Amino acid sequence: MLTNIGFNPEEIMTQNTLTKRLSDYQPYPFELEMVRLDFRLDPDATQVRARMAMRPLRAASALELDGEGLVLRKIAVDGRVLAASEYTQSDTGLVIHAAALPAQTFTLETEVEIAPAANTALEGLYMSNGMYCTQCEAEGFRKITYYPDRPDVMARFHVTVAGDAPVLLSNGNPVAQETGRAEWVDPWPKPAYLFALVAGDLVAHSGSFTTMSGREVALNIWVRKGDETRCAFALEALKRSMTWDEQVYGREYDLDIFNIVAVDDFNMGAMENKGLNIFNSKWVLASPETATDSDYERIEGIIAHEYFHNWTGNRITCRDWFQLCLKEGLTVYRDQSFTADMRLGPVKRIEDVSALRARQFREDRGPLSHPPRPDHYKEINNFYTATVYEKGAEIVGMLRQLVGPQGYRDALDLYFERHDGQACTIEDWLKVFEDSSGRDLRQFKHWYTDAGTPRLQVSDDFKDGTYTLEFTQKTDQTPGQGDKPARHIPIAVGLLSDTGADLIETKILEMTEPRQSFVFEGLSQRPVPSILRGFSAPVVLEFDTGHPPDSAFLLAHDSDPFNRWEAGRRLALQTVVAMAQGGAADPSYVAAIGALIKDGAADPAFCALCLALPSEDQIAQALHEAGKSPDPVAIHRAREALATALANAHEDALSALYDAMAVSGPYRPDPEPAGQRSLRLAALALLRRIDGGARAQALFDAADNMTESLAALGQVVAAGVGEAALATFRDRWQGDRLVMDKWFAIQLTASAPDQALSRAEKLVQDPLFDWKNPNRFRSLMSGFAANHAGFHRVDGAGYRFYADWLLRLDPLNPQVAARMSTAFETWARYDLTRQSLMRAELARIAQTEGLSRDLSEMSARMLG
Ligand code: ARG
Ligand code: ZN
Repeated sequence: MLTNIGFNPEEIMTQNTLTKRLSDYQPYPFELEMVRLDFRLDPDATQVRARMAMRPLRAASALELDGEGLVLRKIAVDGRVLAASEYTQSDTGLVIHAAALPAQTFTLETEVEIAPAANTALEGLYMSNGMYCTQCEAEGFRKITYYPDRPDVMARFHVTVAGDAPVLLSNGNPVAQETGRAEWVDPWPKPAYLFALVAGDLVAHSGSFTTMSGREVALNIWVRKGDETRCAFALEALKRSMTWDEQVYGREYDLDIFNIVAVDDFNMGAMENKGLNIFNSKWVLASPETATDSDYERIEGIIAHEYFHNWTGNRITCRDWFQLCLKEGLTVYRDQSFTADMRLGPVKRIEDVSALRARQFREDRGPLSHPPRPDHYKEINNFYTATVYEKGAEIVGMLRQLVGPQGYRDALDLYFERHDGQACTIEDWLKVFEDSSGRDLRQFKHWYTDAGTPRLQVSDDFKDGTYTLEFTQKTDQTPGQGDKPARHIPIAVGLLSDTGADLIETKILEMTEPRQSFVFEGLSQRPVPSILRGFSAPVVLEFDTGHPPDSAFLLAHDSDPFNRWEAGRRLALQTVVAMAQGGAADPSYVAAIGALIKDGAADPAFCALCLALPSEDQIAQALHEAGKSPDPVAIHRAREALATALANAHEDALSALYDAMAVSGPYRPDPEPAGQRSLRLAALALLRRIDGGARAQALFDAADNMTESLAALGQVVAAGVGEAALATFRDRWQGDRLVMDKWFAIQLTASAPDQALSRAEKLVQDPLFDWKNPNRFRSLMSGFAANHAGFHRVDGAGYRFYADWLLRLDPLNPQVAARMSTAFETWARYDLTRQSLMRAELARIAQTEGLSRDLSEMSARMLG
């Protein structure tokens, strides 16, 4: 008898057939010229009629259509209703046998029924607060109608929506609008994942934009009544995005209307459906009282991201989902560049690298490590990852460094010219760069196909005026990938004199060998190297212990702002790691921070980033990278002790800074006042360690904006004196979903580790904990998991609580449950006790009967 399911041959077979492989790609044997969709909306029984003009490309092919959870009411070819023997239906779709199909273009007609009100997975057509909306990427369209739901099948859509909602929207341009019925035609062929439909009692905040060729585009942000006063910022951000894409990429918008809809129940951030972007309301709605500075910055960036997809994603899409980073990496790169242009470029770069390390390096160091272009998956929704998105963006940034700014623009021009209207691959993308620059990018391609973060070791030597830098690269094994060839790495290097002056202009060294030296001649003194300026490649830089860089010197003098900040981070990590193992705060770090606080010339936003200590999770990762097992409790204590040491050493200067950075006048979300606030709040966070939260309480009482109010709330909670403020905040904001999300999260991230779990257990009883709403679920659960020492309690109770809730959510919303299971991806970092506790929860999840494909793939991968 076979008891272990892993050895059951049938089980193995089904598991293998569920795996999709890049190498199995086959083009679709039909061309879909045009599709007409007619919707009759009803919460419990929506009727969807589809008529598709199909042209066979290969003789005698069966016609395969995807479809899930559909009730088929009718199926006909050229008006002839098919007999049951002419097609086969399954759980995942429908196949019309070749014999039932004409050899020439024919019309396939289907009618199906679906129940949007019962759709809790929020994929396909579903309801949120009485409003109908859709989410089709990646494979949600198959829950709406039978269709070739794959990105390389592109068609022109003509959509009719009938229903009793006052506003009825779909993609493209409106061609008819009357009460209860609207008709939309999208002239641009598109894959089904870009389809969208929205119907509800909505109001618009409207504007318009004149494109570079003088066309007028109507702009609307559709929201629930009452929210229209919080749309102005998003609308302006949209106009800035449209202008920027014209100026920087020469890309013009291509429809008469651009609609954005804000939805409260949404699995992700936002979605770039053609002409009808759908957003999580969190990333649209903003007012000074309810949104923080960082919310404003994110809103601007996400509006830009979705808008930029119109060219990088929609006009040129992906051939298959393995190529997801083709559109996502490029579009993230574009939105990062946009924000860098709108705000402070170096500050944005530091924020982006911090996020990359916190999410992507973390992913890459664990069992979920995968290449930016994966070659197999079971559930594509599990691959909307930091590796595909953020590492994908880093790769585009490296390409730009290799070919230069003009070479990059030329390559992108060729990309749009050559591939407009197509569904493309990473090979197509790299070929464009090769053809336009004449460079050979075969080795560079490993960045797309290989997983893992390279470690770059550097040592140096100086003799007779010649300075030599020697680099060694190594990429560790990752799941399914053993030894890996050397990567093509652009390393931006500067050399400083002993007074801190630049001796050379920043130079891009191109490393292509496992070990490689670069020489600089004619130097009169041994220079101080500034390596990997601007974080020119996503690698871990390790210095030869014989000659560590003078981090305090670089923090004071480097002309590259990224490397200045990086030097401070390196010092902070070194000292906090030493403190976690019983050492004391490094006086040179404490002094360097003192100098920075008093440096009146430094930019406030930049200074704020330098004052922020690495997170506990990042400290744990640094220890793991150094081959040590992190102790969460010791890390928490060490980080607190370092903050206290900084506050004690610089109390007067911090206090003066806190007062000096107060912003007067009405709140504006612009970069300058936001930068001042961020520095002020960084000072507040340090001072909280010695004033018992007194300043934070005063700020909380006085604040007229969410940035200060929320930060102050976090500090009083962290100081252990936050109960009254939490109650006040709840009373004031209980009617506001987005603000209450912040309330749930902050008390978990900020609370003392030994109280985090009891707080979380209390919060799940709160009547406002609407756990079926993804934002609310994430606020509470991710807030708890972000409390590093609280989540990693050594008794395992934090893990158990978290896993219980994942299992509760999974039957309703597998996508969110699977995504949030990554809280367990770090198990291998920790001591054996915690390892086995975390693995036990993963095993309990994996063995749960009826588990979703999403969560089962994730738990299996994490168990390894
Ligand atoms: N394409 C969307 C964006 O990047 C995100 C879609 C996420 N889809 C998913 N199944 N996770 O803006
Ligand atoms: Zn995207």
